[in-house]
Amino acid sequence: MATLFLRNSPFPQLYFPKSFPSFPSTIRIRPLTSAKIGGSVTTEQFYERKEADVDVKKKIFVAGATGNTGKRVVEQLLSKGFSVKAGVRDLEKAKTSLSTDKSSLQIVQADVTESSTKLAEAIGDDSDAVICATGFRPGWDLTAPWRVDNFGTVNLVEACRKLGVNRFILISSILVNGAAMGQLFNPAYIFLNVFGLTLVAKLQAEQHIRKSGINYTIIRPGGLRNDPPTGNVVLEPEDTLYEGTISRDQVAEVAVECLVHPESYFKVVEIVSRVDAPKRSYKDLFGSIKQS
Ligand SMILES: NC(=O)c1ccc[n+]([C@@H]2O[C@H](COP(=O)([O-])OP(=O)(O)OC[C@H]3O[C@@H](n4cnc5c(N)ncnc54)[C@H](OP(=O)(O)O)[C@@H]3O)[C@@H](O)[C@H]2O)c1
Repeated sequence: MATLFLRNSPFPQLYFPKSFPSFPSTIRIRPLTSAKIGGSVTTEQFYERKEADVDVKKKIFVAGATGNTGKRVVEQLLSKGFSVKAGVRDLEKAKTSLSTDKSSLQIVQADVTESSTKLAEAIGDDSDAVICATGFRPGWDLTAPWRVDNFGTVNLVEACRKLGVNRFILISSILVNGAAMGQLFNPAYIFLNVFGLTLVAKLQAEQHIRKSGINYTIIRPGGLRNDPPTGNVVLEPEDTLYEGTISRDQVAEVAVECLVHPESYFKVVEIVSRVDAPKRSYKDLFGSIKQS
């Protein structure tokens, strides 16, 4: 029986180089064809990798920046020399949960359930990439997962497309495709879908991203823990892992490493940590994933 740990999480923990001043690979976009995505006509795009522009510090927009993982993403980005635009629902909350004294941190109001046009204003024309660490907050509204984890993420992607922001990193979840991987009766799969089809909502958003043409990395962590890492990161291809946990510090680290490793481009990766796993470089970890 799969064991996904249920601790401090919305699904009540139900589950489950010193500095990186640069953002690799300038990406050039060449429109190719039009396609219909999520009811709107969009343009498929072609991305071409170029050499890393190693001397340029980049600004990263973090959606869900006051969340348990989001704030760790913000902290790690800042410590590695990135500028951060933190997208938050509640500006007052952000004052207490983020280090507001840093000049490289800007905080902006951004509710992902609002329109992509409004989100585009928040992201602005100075963001080079978006990391999405949002997740619905549990409550009585059973539509919240669909509105936040599906439509909200789609809104963010569409905002990026409007702006020409061509790098999108999503923190999703293992088991989103549980039905297809024979985990229909996994208790975590059932629990997370009973309350608002959470995993189905996340999978819908993932599918939108993958069709959008944007340069994505979808990170699917196992059950999230607030405590510091106890093991090494295990990174596997999509639809592989159905149990296990990982420290939010490591999830944030993987998200930030995606920015500097082209080996992560256009990939879905699943992550947990294990004490007996060997320590591997991120280049090696991302490079080992062969995305079909
Ligand atoms: N918990 C687990 O074990 C687990 C396992 C695998 C994957 N995940 C996924 O990993 C991601 C991060 O999880 P977490 O536990 O670190 O998240 P979290 O602490 O619950 O934070 C969620 C963030 O999303 C924000 N948010 C909610 N609705 C929003 C909206 N309409 N517009 C903008 N922001 C909104 C919240 O804002 P406020 O701060 O204003 O509330 C918060 O900052 C989530 O997608 C989660 O589903 C979780």
